Amino acid sequence: MKVDVLLGLQWGDEGKGKIVDVLAPRYDVVARFQGGPNAGHTLEFDGIKHVLHQIPSGIFRDKTRNVIGNGVVLDPIVFKAEIEKLQKYHLNVKGNLFISKKATLIIPTHRLLDQAQEKAKGDDKIGSTLKGIGPSYQDKIGRQGLRVGDVLSPNFREKLKKLVDLHLEILKAHDLVFNWSELEGQFLEAIEFLKEFKLIDSEYFLNKELKAGSRVLAEGAQGSLLDIDFGSYPFVTSSSTVSAGACTGLGVAPCHIGEVYGIFKAYSTRVGSGPFPTELINEEGEAMRKQGNEYGSTTGRPRRCGWIDLPSLKYSIMINGVTQLLMMKADVLSIFSRIKICTQYKLNDGTLTDQVPYEQIHANITPVYQEVKGWNCSLKGLVEQNLPMELQNYITFLEKALEVPISLISTGPDRTETIHRFRHPA
Ligand code: GDP
Ligand code: IMO
Ligand code: MG
Repeated sequence: MKVDVLLGLQWGDEGKGKIVDVLAPRYDVVARFQGGPNAGHTLEFDGIKHVLHQIPSGIFRDKTRNVIGNGVVLDPIVFKAEIEKLQKYHLNVKGNLFISKKATLIIPTHRLLDQAQEKAKGDDKIGSTLKGIGPSYQDKIGRQGLRVGDVLSPNFREKLKKLVDLHLEILKAHDLVFNWSELEGQFLEAIEFLKEFKLIDSEYFLNKELKAGSRVLAEGAQGSLLDIDFGSYPFVTSSSTVSAGACTGLGVAPCHIGEVYGIFKAYSTRVGSGPFPTELINEEGEAMRKQGNEYGSTTGRPRRCGWIDLPSLKYSIMINGVTQLLMMKADVLSIFSRIKICTQYKLNDGTLTDQVPYEQIHANITPVYQEVKGWNCSLKGLVEQNLPMELQNYITFLEKALEVPISLISTGPDRTETIHRFRHPA
């Protein structure tokens, strides 16, 4: 069998958590392949809203096994809190969750370093979630990180001390106030908790599952426009958020990748700093934020809002090899009688392009819009056959421009508010 990949095509928060939960019954395994507690994946059903940060979004489906892959950076303290929050739902988390020994550990000093680095950047700050993502990936790439498997080693404490000493030395130059022994106590307690879970060689686990005919869904975090290579560098996260990241982040070969589901909002949002060509810094943007409840799932920060941006979506589709598109939050656009679609960018020198230019930050990209009529009505309870004509036209317009079919339309946060248009079963 193949691994299908579901990933965000914009700047994150497209609705990945909701759709992974919706699709999970069709899969035997759901696996996260990158990112860490910077992610906030929201699931809604039975009137309850859940936000997952590190645990894959298949956890509420009792027949689905969930893997935290080697490409993930895992904060044991956040992990413990997240598991404890789930306890009241009596899920079989211990039975259904598997953690790669090769996943990188986030230690408390990584969070402090994140703060220090952001502070030092001043006005150029990334707008990081401050969860220690950048510094933990820096240690991984710098070949001095700690990994989940290390917690089983008899000299784990020594390894930890070595890394902490390095970090504390760097932190001396910054005026952060913290109590290391308190943080260390918390961390060690969380490590003991982590040891109670199945710590595995997840690349073997996944490849054996594939051989045995299991269906695997890889769950991306963040979005393609935040990718370390292809995002609006330096205003990006520190991992490979694109489909290739599923190969390195899980240990599955490219020939084993099947469908690539690209998920996007019917408009655009971004949280944190960095270029956003179609951003609306006006009443329309505020109305979008209010209607879409666009506040960060991890940090609560207001998300920047704007119209859909086809050049950047085409770019993401190209990099990821997207085979099917999933469009979220169509209901949010119901408040507008006219909807704008950015089809091209006009650059400083007057050139028109539908490519994302290298220099996005100072290029003064002006979006070129095509305007269409909005549907201006509630989408509650609608099925595909009775979607308003204007929404059907919007979908057709996007499919034509993006050259990929839209296989799912989401019309609300709940599991049930989902219209399937899959031409072949997902
Ligand atoms: P993720 O990080 O990609 O999983 O997305 P988030 O959970 O951070 O943000 C998506 C937000 O939109 C969450 O609050 C969801 O509950 C909500 N949401 C998802 N799909 C829809 C939809 O179709 N309509 C509306 N109104 N909200 C949605
Ligand atoms: P999900 O998985 C939206 C953004 C941050 C910041 C930049 C770098 O929920 O879609 P980092 O903490 O990684 O150093 O932050 O990336 N960012 C996200 N934005 N959704 C996310 O995850 C994000 N994870 C990181 O706001 O601009
Ligand atoms: Mg999110």
